[in-house]
Amino acid sequence: MISVIVPSTGIRLIDNEHKDLAEIVEKILKENMKYVELVEYYQVLADEVMIHFEHEQELMIDYKYPRQCYLKHEKDHTHKTIEILWLKNNLKNIGNNREYHAEQMSRLVKWLVYHISIEDVNLGKFLVSKGLQ
Ligand SMILES: [Fe+2]
Ligand SMILES: [Fe+2]
Repeated sequence: MISVIVPSTGIRLIDNEHKDLAEIVEKILKENMKYVELVEYYQVLADEVMIHFEHEQELMIDYKYPRQCYLKHEKDHTHKTIEILWLKNNLKNIGNNREYHAEQMSRLVKWLVYHISIEDVNLGKFLVSKGLQ
């Protein structure tokens, strides 16, 4: 089992959503997962990831995050969204291959931790400096 330790961004909404994403990943990794459940969890993962990215991007726009920082951050989000949607849409071909999904979730967790530690923590510092919590 992967245990996900994500750094805090200082912004409650963002931190809570990160925890929710980590929980979905852990569910996908559950032993004895049925294929139908896997399909459902991937759908939830894709939905929640997109909602989360949208929330962060809305905050960047509302609080006038510097444009270059916004563009870089948004690009990261877009790449990861495409990957997750590809996974979700190809589940029929992949099937319930536990090893494959464990590997994909491990990659996703590594990306999340990396992205959060850099992009989201920077965004958090900026938002905190604007008075958000
Ligand atoms: Fe982000
Ligand atoms: Fe995030």
